[in-house]
Amino acid sequence: MTSAWGRIEVLHGVNLDMLGERDPLHYGSLTLAELDTQIAVWASELDLQASSFQTNAESEYVERLHALRGKVAGVILNPGSWTHYAYSIHDALELTGLPAVEVHLSDVQSREPWRRLSVIGDLCLATYSGKGPEGYRLALERLRDALDGDQA
Ligand code: DQA
Repeated sequence: MTSAWGRIEVLHGVNLDMLGERDPLHYGSLTLAELDTQIAVWASELDLQASSFQTNAESEYVERLHALRGKVAGVILNPGSWTHYAYSIHDALELTGLPAVEVHLSDVQSREPWRRLSVIGDLCLATYSGKGPEGYRLALERLRDALDGDQA
């Protein structure tokens, strides 16, 4: 067991800092701070510790992924619109080698066609989309299962 065991980082991307002000039909009414509080509670119920990070700068998102190598056991990514075109984030995630789960608050498959492509989906254990905050709970459970599998 390493010191990284149980540590999960949730990486919120561009415009996710505006939750609470964005269209509630797609994104609900929680602010990012409220969402992070809820995620931390769900994590502790699963014996995980969740930290979170948000930036509107793609380079900072990439550098955060670089910095997480060896520091956490898994990552949950909602890169916002970067999901659909930012191959830099694909490559940064790939080099971390970390188990990853993709989350979208809205149902990206049933919105504009350009939202249907995810450039990180192939690197993720699962994608939860359109389930609102619940998607993060499911992502934590998926990572918990992956960690349990590593220990077995
Ligand atoms: C999002 C979906 C993206 O298409 C959009 O650009 C976002 C948020 C979501 O959580 O539903 O910013 O990732």
